[in-house]
Amino acid sequence: MALNSIGLDTVKAKELANDLNHLLANFQIYYQNLRGIHWNIKGKRFFDLHVKFEELYTDANAKVDEIAERILTLGETPYHTFEDYSAHAQVPVGKNISQDEKAVILIVDSLSGLLKIERDILDKSGDANDEGTNSMMSDFITEQEKTVWMMKAWLS
Ligand SMILES: [Fe+2]
Repeated sequence: MALNSIGLDTVKAKELANDLNHLLANFQIYYQNLRGIHWNIKGKRFFDLHVKFEELYTDANAKVDEIAERILTLGETPYHTFEDYSAHAQVPVGKNISQDEKAVILIVDSLSGLLKIERDILDKSGDANDEGTNSMMSDFITEQEKTVWMMKAWLS
């Protein structure tokens, strides 16, 4: 088994970096979904939601950077074009959403998609003894599960 300069199996590190690129693509769609609803939201709850969506996209933006830099740490190149993001993402794309419940449902659906990918990476990074990726996924999952709970509480 060949090890890379940070002591990880080179084959497994490359696979994890590929999985992280998949997560990155999906995260960028989620980020853009949040920008869209921040801009387009209408109605009596505008002021609350406009601010809440900004808080969420600021957090997503920081996570995007963490994912990309982890990919580089693992020795690969992060996707950085819209073309790659569109080609590799599965989370729903929200377009022209201005109604508050539809906006919050878009967040829940996007996060559900991200959580699925993150759990898969959590599993694989554990097997590869990649603590850096593993703890990142663990933190993301904990935070996003809490956001899903709050969004569902808002919807109910
Ligand atoms: Fe703004």
